[in-house]
Amino acid sequence: MKNSHMIITIDGPAGVGKSTLAGRLAESFKIAYLDTGAMYRAVGWMLGNEDPDSDQNKLGKILEGLIFGLHGSGWNSRVTLNKNILGDEIRTEEAGMRASDFARLKIVREYLTKSQQNIGQETSLVAEGRDMGSVVFINAHYKFFLDASARVRAERRQAQLLRMRKQADYSLILEQIIKRDEQDRNRAIAPLKPAPDAIVIDTGPMNPDQVFEQMTKHIENSPIRSKSSYK
Ligand code: DC
Repeated sequence: MKNSHMIITIDGPAGVGKSTLAGRLAESFKIAYLDTGAMYRAVGWMLGNEDPDSDQNKLGKILEGLIFGLHGSGWNSRVTLNKNILGDEIRTEEAGMRASDFARLKIVREYLTKSQQNIGQETSLVAEGRDMGSVVFINAHYKFFLDASARVRAERRQAQLLRMRKQADYSLILEQIIKRDEQDRNRAIAPLKPAPDAIVIDTGPMNPDQVFEQMTKHIENSPIRSKSSYK
């Protein structure tokens, strides 16, 4: 890792606010953020109707054609697939579940872990996902794990959908969150869990400003490196 290079990881369950916080931190540090969930969603999307447990060689061949990159920085950081910015088609709850189905596979995790590490070699990052601090960037300078109960996350998601004037059935949202969490927490490879050296923040009783403040305070007060050490 280069001296001026900074990696911050944020892990946590679905709907806990990782992307929002990653975007804010990246904006404040003038670096990029990497939404690794978007990469898993794109894989789920591209593998479309393949059965996750079908011929792994075939899946491997498809994966090799998927070249991920990063465009922009701060708030405007976007994951690219074969040079195209990933769009909203991967943002549905169905695409999230499909991503989680393929995220169980060794071949998929190995491929995406390499891609993420390659991107992290090139540039400073706020990397967010499920295994950023525990597997992909184990030497990250700062590690956070955001948590909140499934109920709180479902309420937030419902409010967000209602603000966008979209349909929002609370019990369905809650059911989907619980199902995806369970699959992500209980898979054999790189399950969702805090890295032993991650700062765990229960965001349940907090608003995004308070979470952001707690994270930046930790970074600024950390004896390892202060914000001023970085561009
Ligand atoms: O963060 P998200 O909801 O966009 O992620 C979609 C799914 O992708 C998530 O349910 C599990 C998988 N994922 C993963 O296994 N590891 C990551 N680092 C990021 C996402």
